Amino acid sequence: MGSISNYHLTLVALVVTLHLAISSHQNYPGTETRPILSDDEASKYQEENYFGDWEPEEIIIPDEPDYIVKAGESIQESVNAAIKAGNSSTRKYIKIEAGVYTETVYIAGDVPLTIYGGDSASDVHIIQNISANTHILDYMNLVNPEGARYQEGDPAWDIYRECGHKNGYIGTNCSAVFVVRSDQFQLMRITVENGATDAQAVAVKIDADKVHLMSSNFLGGQDTLFVGANNKTEERVHVHMCYIEGDTDFIFGAASAVFNMCTVKVVGKRGKNTAIIFAPSTPPDRSYGFLVIDSVITGDEVYLGSNKTSLARAWDAGVQTAEDYVAGSSPNGQLVIRDSQIDAIIDVDQPYTAAATSGRPFSTDIKTDRNLDDNVHNRLWEYNNYGDDA
Ligand SMILES: *[C@@H]1O[C@H](CO)[C@@H](O)[C@H](O)[C@H]1NC(C)=O
Ligand SMILES: *[C@@H]1O[C@H](CO)[C@@H](O)[C@H](O)[C@H]1NC(C)=O
Ligand SMILES: *[C@@H]1O[C@H](CO)[C@@H](O)[C@H](O)[C@H]1NC(C)=O
Ligand SMILES: *[C@@H]1O[C@H](CO)[C@@H](O)[C@H](O)[C@H]1NC(C)=O
Ligand SMILES: *[C@@H]1O[C@H](CO)[C@@H](O)[C@H](O)[C@H]1NC(C)=O
Repeated sequence: MGSISNYHLTLVALVVTLHLAISSHQNYPGTETRPILSDDEASKYQEENYFGDWEPEEIIIPDEPDYIVKAGESIQESVNAAIKAGNSSTRKYIKIEAGVYTETVYIAGDVPLTIYGGDSASDVHIIQNISANTHILDYMNLVNPEGARYQEGDPAWDIYRECGHKNGYIGTNCSAVFVVRSDQFQLMRITVENGATDAQAVAVKIDADKVHLMSSNFLGGQDTLFVGANNKTEERVHVHMCYIEGDTDFIFGAASAVFNMCTVKVVGKRGKNTAIIFAPSTPPDRSYGFLVIDSVITGDEVYLGSNKTSLARAWDAGVQTAEDYVAGSSPNGQLVIRDSQIDAIIDVDQPYTAAATSGRPFSTDIKTDRNLDDNVHNRLWEYNNYGDDA
């Protein structure tokens, strides 16, 4: 395995180490606007409960990758080749050499794939600018010029076609630069950016199970990282030592996802000065949505000291109004942020806001015999966080 010289990794490790000496001031059961778990309640929010029978395997970097992509070449081409040549029992490795890759990457098929970069995540920069408001014709010209990049019969064809055949504007779901619909996918030391600033613009969309993202950067504004695009099947995602930035709902979806030793940063590059970080839309019968642990939640100079960031809101995907929300059948985002550093960016009086799609007001239960799976209330919790706004 290659050595990890990721700057964020070192930074987070340092912060987490220092934290051992700092105690949290977060007290159970918290308030009507900011509920806090007890030691006993928090004890079940551990990585293994989010992953069940899956134990994320270490990402091994082979001496000889199956494919090497050089600057100027197409990543999609190697992905297609690997999936066509492979089978479900043998992992294929694709190494990307340093460079900027202006393209979408769609990964579908039952071949376990590992895509990795160089010594630092920033060496390999995959970027495309597509938003929910991109017109279908512009989308087709941009991602599939002359119909050459995505062709019928390619493993990636379905993902392209689902978007390529819509009318009008493509919508959030099709704005993703990097789409994973392949179980057991691994990503290591890669930067993916959606540079569009006018609307929702997904950098990475995960629509698969047992996905491991490590030491990578995900850059965007609204809706940067979409984990769990399909809530009918279980989609487990391990996000490890990553850096994720944006301003609005920039970590969202239905997955059971663990963010371990990550840096999550609100940035003002789109000219906004209010922000919402997490927007989970967990199925109501699933107890484990997002777990943020041993991580750092911070902001740039636009946000530090401004008190204008919300930690989270429920997405309530598909629920049109607060009256349409049905406890137990509508999605009800589940999130625990624990053992993490929270910098001076949060609106501490109101760290959670009304649900994104339905407008359902935030509500919680601070009774000591509360049921943490009760879908009448939100399922957004904290435990043992520290830092200025914990
Ligand atoms: C899968 O691929 C590997 C190597 O590419 C090969 O050795 C193996 O026989 C293949 N298995 C099947 C079931 O085709
Ligand atoms: C894509 O977005 C980035 C970041 O917003 C920007 O710097 C770049 O100029 C954009 N590229 C194009 C071709 O619009
Ligand atoms: C978004 O795409 C996923 C598959 O990637 C699909 O399951 C889901 O229904 C789509 N959602 C919408 C609102 O189109
Ligand atoms: C942010 O909140 C803190 C603590 O409540 C307060 O002291 C500070 O003045 C606020 N800053 C702004 C810019 O409102
Ligand atoms: C999840 O499923 C529910 C119920 O079928 C649906 O209302 C909602 O839109 C789905 N969420 C996503 C993210 O597709």
